[in-house]
Amino acid sequence: MPFTFNPLNQEAARQVLAWTYPPPYNVYNEDPERLEQVVVEVLRPDYHYYSIAEDEDPLVAYCCYGLDARVAGGDYALDALDIGLMVRPDLNGQGRGTLFAAAVVDFARRTFPDRRWRVTIASFNLRAQCVWREVGFRKSETFLRRGDGLSFSVWVRDDNGDDRPPARVRSWKGKAGRRITSPTNRI
Ligand SMILES: CC(C)(COP(=O)(O)OP(=O)(O)OC[C@H]1O[C@@H](n2cnc3c(N)ncnc32)[C@H](O)[C@@H]1OP(=O)(O)O)[C@@H](O)C(=O)NCCC(=O)NCCS
Repeated sequence: MPFTFNPLNQEAARQVLAWTYPPPYNVYNEDPERLEQVVVEVLRPDYHYYSIAEDEDPLVAYCCYGLDARVAGGDYALDALDIGLMVRPDLNGQGRGTLFAAAVVDFARRTFPDRRWRVTIASFNLRAQCVWREVGFRKSETFLRRGDGLSFSVWVRDDNGDDRPPARVRSWKGKAGRRITSPTNRI
């Protein structure tokens, strides 16, 4: 801490897309043969990808907001901002997932007008589900991904509605990273 968010640049994109996760999380590994094509995709301004730095470590995670955080086959009719988060493999499993997730939501709150957020998580990924539940998200739908049939669920946090995040999350907000005062465009 603190976390700093910067729009993802080409060099960082190449780095994060080369990260490799051990099984069962290897489903998130990029095919090296597609790397250059995916680099172009994640640099699309309307996909709102950010690299995340922590203190002197320039690249501890990356995230995205909007369309590219969705999974084919899910129901995205509800008006909500989609969030994707990937923490660097060597930092996984150290009990800091909720700090990353809370910081990514906090950055969304300061950058975009939405007050309802959504994440889509593979059903096998109990670690990710644990983290997003802890920061106030609730499961709303389970579906099979178009193409390969892998099971995913959609999780929503609505700060406008009754489903308030737990008080524990609120107490993290002050620690969640430096304020960024220049908002990007609404997706
Ligand atoms: C998903 C991610 C953010 C989680 O962060 P993390 O720092 O690795 O997670 P943590 O170490 O904080 O673990 C979170 C919780 O999951 C629990 N957990 C870990 N492995 C688990 C498993 N196999 N089954 C159930 N719970 C598990 C931990 O005990 C911890 O619970 P606790 O807070 O009650 O102690 C991070 O691992 C990540 O970005 N991974 C990249 C690949 C990925 O899974 N992406 C998900 C996209 S949605």
